[in-house]
Amino acid sequence: MSETVASRGWAIIVHGGAKDIPPGQEDVHRDGCLRALAAGRAILETGGHAVDAVEAAVRALEDDPTFNAGYGAVRNGDGVVELDAAIMDGASLAVGGVAGVRTLRHPISVAAAMLDETPVLLVADGAEAFARAHGGEFCEPADLIIERAGDPGCDTVGCVALDRHGDIAAGTSTGGLSGCHPGRVGDSPLPGCGLYADNAVGGVSLSGDGESLIRTTLAARLMQSLEALPPDAAIKAALGRLEKVGGEAGLIVIDAEGRVGWGHSSAQFAVAHARQDTPAKAFTHRSQDAEKDLA
Ligand code: GLY
Repeated sequence: MSETVASRGWAIIVHGGAKDIPPGQEDVHRDGCLRALAAGRAILETGGHAVDAVEAAVRALEDDPTFNAGYGAVRNGDGVVELDAAIMDGASLAVGGVAGVRTLRHPISVAAAMLDETPVLLVADGAEAFARAHGGEFCEPADLIIERAGDPGCDTVGCVALDRHGDIAAGTSTGGLSGCHPGRVGDSPLPGCGLYADNAVGGVSLSGDGESLIRTTLAARLMQSLEALPPDAAIKAALGRLEKVGGEAGLIVIDAEGRVGWGHSSAQFAVAHARQDTPAKAFTHRSQDAEKDLA
């Protein structure tokens, strides 16, 4: 643990997806992000680990039908649900990810259980078999689906946390892309695309058009920019890179210095963040957040 990080304390940021938030739905998005933030924050405040904080925050988002992850997922082109999730530990560079799962109540927790195991990514039946062997929670696939009038019901949730030990973790979870090709996997469970964490640099979690994020390896690009730039500038560079292929994104960041940043090219992006020395705040658009980098 470096003195710099220890003196700055913990930090956490969560998001509820880069998307159009239907009129009148801003408050439930902000409130849902604040509840998830509180779940992660409770762990960080008591000296707990970043990985556990990220898992707790993402579980709260997976429980909230406002968001397309866990309970609140959408139907693919075959009318069934396929969930993806991943978590990365910036201390060890361990990654756990699941893709195309249909019966897992909390995909992020199964991904977290994989952090001590060799596989980085398990799909479909293999991931569900792993969950059965490791005490995963199961549910009926149909129980996860929420039909939303006027809401595209797509995209991802995520969290990045820095703990008092100086460790950083990042996580993602998605209920898929409405009407997508069966078996399609987006950026969310892919390190370097939807998330990455490395204590030496920071942690990032992304949301948006999965194919564009994969084609630009946008999480890896963002991490590379963070080696030289503060979060807001690194996010701007990453969004510039995305223009090469088109598509929308939302990005959340905590760097190794404990600076928090976020940005998006989507119409809206619900986010909540807090640091040891800064109260929790929630927004649905970057322009509402006056404190650049919370420096
Ligand atoms: N960003 C989520 C997905 O494209 O699957």
